[in-house]
Amino acid sequence: MIEEKDLVIIGGGVAGYVAAIKAGQEGMKVACIEKRGTLGGTCLNVGCIPSKSLLNNSHLYHQILHDTKNRGIEVGDVKLNLANFMKAKDTAVSGLTKGVEFLLKKNGVEYIKGAGTFATENDITVALNDGGETTVRGKNILIATGSEATPFPGLEIDEKRVITSTGAISLENIPETMIVIGGGIIGLEMASVWSRLGTKVTVVEFLGQIGGPGMDTEIAKATQKLLKKQGMDFKLNTKVVSGDKSGQRVKLDVDAAKGGKPETLDADVVLVAIGRRPYTQGLGLENIGMELDERGRVIIDSEYRTKIPHIRCVGDVTFGPMLAHKAEEEAVAVVEYIKKGYGHVNYGCIPSVMYTYPEVAWVGQSEQDLKNQKIPYRVGTFPFSANSRAKTNLDTDGLVKMLADPETDRLLGVHIIGPNAGEMIAEGTLAMEYGASTEDIARTCHAHPTLAEAFKEAAMATSSKAIHF
Ligand code: FAD
Ligand code: NAI
Repeated sequence: MIEEKDLVIIGGGVAGYVAAIKAGQEGMKVACIEKRGTLGGTCLNVGCIPSKSLLNNSHLYHQILHDTKNRGIEVGDVKLNLANFMKAKDTAVSGLTKGVEFLLKKNGVEYIKGAGTFATENDITVALNDGGETTVRGKNILIATGSEATPFPGLEIDEKRVITSTGAISLENIPETMIVIGGGIIGLEMASVWSRLGTKVTVVEFLGQIGGPGMDTEIAKATQKLLKKQGMDFKLNTKVVSGDKSGQRVKLDVDAAKGGKPETLDADVVLVAIGRRPYTQGLGLENIGMELDERGRVIIDSEYRTKIPHIRCVGDVTFGPMLAHKAEEEAVAVVEYIKKGYGHVNYGCIPSVMYTYPEVAWVGQSEQDLKNQKIPYRVGTFPFSANSRAKTNLDTDGLVKMLADPETDRLLGVHIIGPNAGEMIAEGTLAMEYGASTEDIARTCHAHPTLAEAFKEAAMATSSKAIHF
């Protein structure tokens, strides 16, 4: 039995570890239970971080192969060493997960390595990774157990031939062919990695556009065109209905959603990327009568309280977009609610970034969102082909698109496809958070020559006219 804590956190992912640090900083006695053996959860171990390492380095490799001659750079024999390519990823992961462990220690958090289960509404039994069991009692408890890949019915995941993102970040060979089920963010990021390394990738997407929920249709079309130019194939409006991996190649039966004829596709490797689902397995929620919604999410109120008020919940396991930075914001807010009685997350202002090349990033509403809600808007765009920095970088694909209220000029949404879109969206997020008008942005001096000038010029195009286009 461990001494009673002010806060016991189940799950050491972004949601859990950030809450632990914040609570430690607030002078609370905290325990954080994590069963994985390392901290950082999906994001640091098998999600954001390893995938971005592979995306960055596969882009570099692809660029050296295909985009140097026109820059006056002649390279000799270029070879990929897949084992070392993976090692670079592992180094980034282990550096960061150890860093989080250090931060917990620094903030006085007790890190318990094991799987936590509710024994009562205040007592968590932990099956320790090293064997044995302990119990920790919390005045407050935070569920932060995250999510897992949604499996495809009838197609067993082996992480070698039928893989989720976890298999996709650690393949030992470069497959000749890969089918990606689902053209959302995971599908497109992983398709990018393997396509750049030489795999022929086909993305099968049920909807009529790629990018998953939230991506503006105009941007999604532009993205698809650029990814196609890089060698990816797409089958949109096409649903994978069943799969069979008994033969040498994995077979998939697909149905065209809009009148086409059914067909069978096959590939060496199939990546299942059809979404993620909340993870509550083994948590013992049934022991305390906790309710889940129809999608398995823990039900909470606006202060992250479950129906048992001292048990709260944040991150992927509850409502909202499954994003690390959303989990992080909630983690800080939930501790503030516990400690001070108030906290805040602006759910209208959570950016999304897809780290393909070019990157795609957005915040706020899309054009189709506004149309669907019959909200009037004004739109302004600026292409990177008219931006001087993009020109010097020979990197001119993409555009910045802004949506604003026609009466007040208040910014309603920003959508960017282009180099460094993921960094540039921070400016859009800040502008929206402060309730900026596009004229405010247009009148803000931006350094020259920078890609961010495209952001300013898109704002000019929205409030009046761009100068350079
Ligand atoms: P998790 O990170 O899933 O952490 C939950 C932790 O709880 C896990 O470590 C789990 O082992 C532990 N746990 C569960 N049950 C128990 C138990 N009973 N006892 C003890 N421990 C338990 N988001 C972004 O914002 N940007 C990105 O670029 C990005 N890239 C991604 C790439 C991939 C391939 C994937 C799969 C996801 C990506 N995400 C990205 C999403 C991001 O990883 C999640 O939104 C984030 O990890 C959610 O944090 P969390 O703490 O809620 O859950
Ligand atoms: P997703 O929900 O973004 O996309 C899944 C896609 O699969 C959808 O477009 C859906 O229409 C399609 N689909 C579902 N069933 C299908 C079928 N039978 N046949 C064909 N298509 C089918 O989910 P994804 O890509 O798995 O990612 C999960 C979450 O992980 C994301 O929503 C995001 O929150 C997070 N993530 C974030 C990243 C980032 O921020 N850069 C990177 C990776 C993941």
